[in-house]
Amino acid sequence: MNNDRLKMQSVNGTAINIENIAALFPHCVTESAEGKKIDFDLLNQELSADIVEGNKERYRLEWPGKREAIVTANTPINKTLRPVREDSVDFDTTENIYIEGDNLEVLKLLQESYLGKIKMIYIDPPYNTGKDFVYKDNFAHSSQEELEESGQKDEYNQRLVVNPDTSGRYHSDWLTNMYPRLKLARNLLTEDGVIFISIDDNEVHNLRKMCDEIFGEINFIAQAVRKRRDSQANLSKNISPIHEYVIMYKKSGDEVLNKVPGNIDESDYKNPDNDPRGPYVTMPCTNKGGAIYEVTTPTGKIIKEEWRFKKDTYDKLFADNKLVFPRGGEGKPRYKLFLEEKKSQGVLANTWWDNLASNQEATREIKALFENLVFDTPKPIGLIKFCQQLASDKHSIILDFFAGSSSTAHAIMQLNAEDGGNRKYIMVQLPEKIDEKSEAFKAGYKNICEIGKERIRRAAKKIKEEKAEKAKKDGMFGDVKDNQDYGFRVYRLDSSNMQDVYYKPQDYNQNTLDLFADNVKEDRSAEDLVAQIMLDWGLELSLPIERKTIAGKEVFAVGGDSLYCCFDKGIDEAFAKEVAKDQPLRIVFRDNGFKDDTAKENVKQLLKQLAPNTEMKVF
Ligand SMILES: C[S@@+](CC[C@H](N)C(=O)[O-])C[C@H]1O[C@@H](n2cnc3c(N)ncnc32)[C@H](O)[C@@H]1O
Repeated sequence: MNNDRLKMQSVNGTAINIENIAALFPHCVTESAEGKKIDFDLLNQELSADIVEGNKERYRLEWPGKREAIVTANTPINKTLRPVREDSVDFDTTENIYIEGDNLEVLKLLQESYLGKIKMIYIDPPYNTGKDFVYKDNFAHSSQEELEESGQKDEYNQRLVVNPDTSGRYHSDWLTNMYPRLKLARNLLTEDGVIFISIDDNEVHNLRKMCDEIFGEINFIAQAVRKRRDSQANLSKNISPIHEYVIMYKKSGDEVLNKVPGNIDESDYKNPDNDPRGPYVTMPCTNKGGAIYEVTTPTGKIIKEEWRFKKDTYDKLFADNKLVFPRGGEGKPRYKLFLEEKKSQGVLANTWWDNLASNQEATREIKALFENLVFDTPKPIGLIKFCQQLASDKHSIILDFFAGSSSTAHAIMQLNAEDGGNRKYIMVQLPEKIDEKSEAFKAGYKNICEIGKERIRRAAKKIKEEKAEKAKKDGMFGDVKDNQDYGFRVYRLDSSNMQDVYYKPQDYNQNTLDLFADNVKEDRSAEDLVAQIMLDWGLELSLPIERKTIAGKEVFAVGGDSLYCCFDKGIDEAFAKEVAKDQPLRIVFRDNGFKDDTAKENVKQLLKQLAPNTEMKVF
């Protein structure tokens, strides 16, 4: 709201009274669907010496809109993801995915294909600073309306609204937005998966409570404090906030984070006996409550103790010259911990992240790729890479559904380049329009997805060049093949490929049904249909898709023999016999694709007989 505008209205007495009470009893003012409201039970209690009967007390996070958020998470949608070849890089071979669209709907569509498959999620949602745009979900949206929606990009931007801290639903709106997304995201995590969420003081308290509810308090790992600015900035009236947080929750399990290379003081490591395994420190072999047995020192002294190793392990350490007996062979044995061993063990990470790159560094990273600042709130590669080192292995799938400028994809490519990993990513980003006055707009970018995709292209080129340069320096001239996956497959959220009659045949009479004999929308391609079938059947969107000709018909073979799709007309017994030789696990035809009704029945029977493991479906 523009502050210069006249109100053109008399004063709101109720609002003034609420403000007056808030001045005396701030905790008695709460948020309701209509805005700020007095919690009369609490106020009553403040004004009474006895316990006042009221609503049952419960320990939980409540806000107006919570039920709506639960329904929002559970409501199915009739939408799909359409491949966008022209924006993709190495579409046919890459395993990385970039999805344009609202993350709530995208997360819904990914539920079957990625259920329990994502090892790590990193998100950096709007912090609710009072100036952020928060996306208003279409609560209880009927599918008819949904199908009638057109021009999605405008629709997206109409729904992105500023959430000012003066709003009576300031926290509630943010919570209502985040709750269903986190619920859906949790389903995608592997059992040992971890979610990392960047956040600051505006909502960290609510986010923690909400995540306790969604992930379970027992699955809280940590709230790391990160230094976000290199230097002081007087951004607040009382103190200069230069930190923010990364909160971490696991899906289940116990030890889910990897150790990290530690800061080892190498000067502690010595090699007095010139051990060929290098310098070491010595550690005590005794351990309260350990195995009890006698050992003999080199001077013949017998020591009975509680030891940290079983007897046979002790004997092996002795045989391997890994024990040291102090005081000229008289003292209790100590074992050698070699510097190399210590390095490979790594150390537990801690929660004080003051030496990971700052947001100013992130800005420099963007400028190094684009010359100007095309994105205002990037996160640094160093931060995201560190999270990836903590929670991913070399083959993990990593998801970021508030992708922004694609720092997460950049960090994954960088880490893969450094440790030879093959981590794969899924980026999800709303095609949020770019302000026409911004540098990004002047540089030709119309929405944030365009920046995100271009960043991946540019970062890939840079990493590839740096790798080649390093190989050259290391003396590996010529043909060292770089097998890293620098590509990405783009999908765009859109309405279903199917006509509405497909979902609600009861709404159409027989005559209209004929009109829709072809139940697929006219503007949809075969590749669109393949993508929707993959999602429907729970197949990963990164699977290779090959076009084949079988008995004169075009077949899309997804993931080798995981899924065959044939949309051609005239499917008959001859085709069934031929395709059965490949024994695909699943096969899909169009309902009106068979030569006639008899052919449809015969194809079904033939497949049952010749390829008993093939599951057939039609649409
Ligand atoms: C703080 S930025 C993330 C920045 C990112 N970490 C980076 O380093 O570039 C949050 C992003 O989430 C996007 N966003 C907000 N609501 C969204 C939604 N409902 N679906 C998808 N993206 C959304 C915004 O457009 C914005 O680009």
